[in-house]
Amino acid sequence: MNAHSSSPAVAEAPVARHDAATVCAQLRQLVGGEHVWLGDDVRAEPCLRDWHGDHVATALAVVMPACTEQVQKVVRYCAEQAIAVVPQGGNTGLVLGALPLGTDARVIVLGLGRMNAIRDMDHDNYAMTVEAGCVLQTIQETAAAQGFLFPVSLGAEGSCQIGGNISTNAGGVNVLRYGMMREQVLGLEVVLPDGSVLHNLKGLRKDNRGVDVNQFFIGAEGALGIVTAASLRLSPLPHNVVTALLALGSVHDAVQLYLQARKRCGDLMTAFELMPQNVLLLAQEALPDTTPPMSFSHSTYVLVEFSGAELVDVAGILEGFLEGVMEDGVLHDAVIAHSHTQAATLWRYREAVNEAQALRGLHLRSDVSVSISRMAEFVEQVQQRLQQAFPSALVVGYGHIGDGNVHVNVLPPADFTTEQRLALIDEGGSIITECVMTFNGSFSAEHGVGRLKKGTFEQYADVSQKALMHKLKQCVDPKNIMNPGCLLS
Ligand code: FAD
Ligand code: LAC
Ligand code: ZN
Repeated sequence: MNAHSSSPAVAEAPVARHDAATVCAQLRQLVGGEHVWLGDDVRAEPCLRDWHGDHVATALAVVMPACTEQVQKVVRYCAEQAIAVVPQGGNTGLVLGALPLGTDARVIVLGLGRMNAIRDMDHDNYAMTVEAGCVLQTIQETAAAQGFLFPVSLGAEGSCQIGGNISTNAGGVNVLRYGMMREQVLGLEVVLPDGSVLHNLKGLRKDNRGVDVNQFFIGAEGALGIVTAASLRLSPLPHNVVTALLALGSVHDAVQLYLQARKRCGDLMTAFELMPQNVLLLAQEALPDTTPPMSFSHSTYVLVEFSGAELVDVAGILEGFLEGVMEDGVLHDAVIAHSHTQAATLWRYREAVNEAQALRGLHLRSDVSVSISRMAEFVEQVQQRLQQAFPSALVVGYGHIGDGNVHVNVLPPADFTTEQRLALIDEGGSIITECVMTFNGSFSAEHGVGRLKKGTFEQYADVSQKALMHKLKQCVDPKNIMNPGCLLS
């Protein structure tokens, strides 16, 4: 799914068409005629534009191999011809990692979408093996149909692919119970930059035969190789799930409520998403036909989900907990979903936040983390500084506060020109980064570095960690053909 944005696309310089035609002809011999498009072919367009429609890239070609062997052939051909390869999954990444932008290199986009087979389900081992191009939602649904949960869940799950989730180490709304993508990976199959294959699809829970090489590729953003398949850890499908929207007085109270719930309800809590009043009202802009589940008259809301097995009275536990915090005066109001439809409506408000922001045109987005103990102080301080710098803009902060992760974004007023918007993105981005660094936080909590945050990465990432990553890159990809301009080159 692509969002529509009124903001102009930032186009890159055109590539030499003659060169592109030759490369395409040769690639067609490797993967078949219909699966290679010239970069200026209309079919390539969605692969060369970011989700918000703010940027348009150029490439010699877009190539869609059908199997690991074809990926190997394409990578070998590109290494010989000094052509760079940008791997692409669902192209929903928010840091421009899957788009060949700002590079002089001759480059192709290698799309994994045709490699979408579920290779194996191993029930007793709570594991499944899938190809990299499997859409996240398909994996969730396949697992659920057989009584299992694949817990990674995020707004783009209808189009992002597991290879992209692994390569960005995606987070989402269930991290506080199940961990990030990294925790769900039991093994990987990866085509390396020299065309060889790392075969590591074992479904073992315990395996201490040296360094875990899977970890090199999780969060590597395609800089070290192309993930072609993965063995994934599954969890039991929770039988009882309860969703609620809670009205509170401040972000501070939201954090306190989270800490209380963690202490008193333990592992039953699967999601705890901050949704302040201005964020719910913003979401409503993308949901003109939806009746709000409650009046959004308090300053702060959290969307919580508790889940457990059949014998666990999840609803009773949540209600008991909420009665306690209501008596303490922390909780002002609550809506508890009594059906799947009501729960889906509450989640729809969470998902619509991104759509509503996209409808507002070019704007500043961020994805930062601080320790949970300093979350409330951070949110207050950074929002205050941004509001002072941009008094006419809408400053929002929402997201996964149970993980210490918040998206602090700035939406300019409608009459801002493109130049004004770009200046706001630049200045506001610096304010957020400076602020998060003073809190010893991270300028990228779950989205990655990509091309958008490469400058910030160079400036602020730890020197010793960066040096090690660059050594690894040099060692694995000495010709620098994998995703140049993104993360490590
Ligand atoms: P792409 O965008 O195609 O690629 C992302 C990166 O991975 C690129 O660097 C690319 O080169 C590389 N890559 C892709 N496939 C492979 C492969 N097979 N091998 C090697 N490298 C590869 N992210 C979160 O973490 N949490 C959220 O809650 C969240 N919510 C979102 C909501 C919306 C509406 C949108 C649009 C995005 C959201 N995202 C979120 C960001 C995005 O969905 C994730 O980063 C996702 O994991 C990207 O998957 P993808 O298949 O689209 O990857
Ligand atoms: C979200 C994306 C922006 O949490 O990460 O909605
Ligand atoms: Zn997020």
